[in-house]
This record gives sequence, structure tokens and C-alpha cells, in this order.
Amino acid sequence: MTTGTDHSMGEAIAARIERRWATLSIVIVGVLVGMAAFIGIHQATMPQGHVETADPKTLHLSGEFIESNLGTSVEADGSVTVRAIGQQYSFTPQCVVVPADTPVSFRATSADVVHGFLIEGTNINAMLVPGYVSVLPARFNAPREHVMPCQEFCGIGHQGMWGKVKVIDKAAFSKLSATRRRLTCVD
Ligand code: CUA
Repeated sequence: MTTGTDHSMGEAIAARIERRWATLSIVIVGVLVGMAAFIGIHQATMPQGHVETADPKTLHLSGEFIESNLGTSVEADGSVTVRAIGQQYSFTPQCVVVPADTPVSFRATSADVVHGFLIEGTNINAMLVPGYVSVLPARFNAPREHVMPCQEFCGIGHQGMWGKVKVIDKAAFSKLSATRRRLTCVD
């Protein structure tokens, strides 16, 4: 049996413990919110790795995406780089030629609005966002033609915006690339 004093003392202890736990849980929530805020602010203020930019207003005037630099080029290590632009409502080049069985790096951007960059029959499916360079590594196993439709709605001409990727035999490609610095299959 407990006396009245014991009872109120027990209540006081219980209330104190309860307050302590309440304080602790508020502190835990506060720490978690603080951590989330710190990480978010930290990421927002740090430049992200591997983000390359290209000013859509001056693409045609200077830099990597001037017209004479578009198309396929062979790097010193034998890999291949394809530079392309999407604009309302076409791709430049309209027809991309690449060798089979070779590492290929697509570097593409948009000259106006957001376009889609999808190569049918592959896992390449990206957005071309004005201001940014999309870098997409690829490798094509065998000679074949792939259609390359714009898969991001970009205006009234969206349905008609598509190009193609022509994968040709490695030997045939090196013969072609010996004659020109930038290759396309646009006739
Ligand atoms: Cu470009 Cu849809």
C-alpha cells in the first residue's frame, strides 16, 4: 500500500522522466532537420562534378558546338566522339555515323528548348537541356541503323524531329575518317 506522499512523489518522478524524453525527442528531430538542411545547402552551394555548360545563344558562333565541329571525330586513343545539337525541329547532324565495336561518347546540347535524345535499340535516352552538355557513353556491337527520335515534347514540330545513327564496320569507318576530320552521313 502506498501513502499519499509516495503517490505524489512517484507522479513527480514520472513527469520528470516524461519531460526528459520529450526534450530528447525534440533534440533528435532538431538534429535531423539541421543535418538535412546542412546537406541541402552544402550541395546547393557546391558546384556538382561533371556538369558542363554551353551557352545556347552563342553555340553557332564559337566553342565546341560550332557547325564545323559537329559530327563524329576520332580521338587520339582510338575512341570516337560525336557532337550534336538539337533545335526546333531537327538534329545537327541529321545522320550520325559511328564505327561498330568502338567506345563512342555522345556530347550534345540544345540550341533552344528541351529536346529528347533517344537512340532506338540502345539504352541511350537523355534530355538535351539548353545551357548544359549531355555526355552519353555508348558502344554499338554491330553495323546497323538506329532511328533517333526526339522523345521530349518541344513544340508543334516535335513529331517530325528525328535523326538517325548509322553504325558501320570498323574498317570502313577508319577508311572514311582518314579523309575528313568530322564525319556525318548527311549527303
Ligand atoms: Cu525536339 Cu521534341
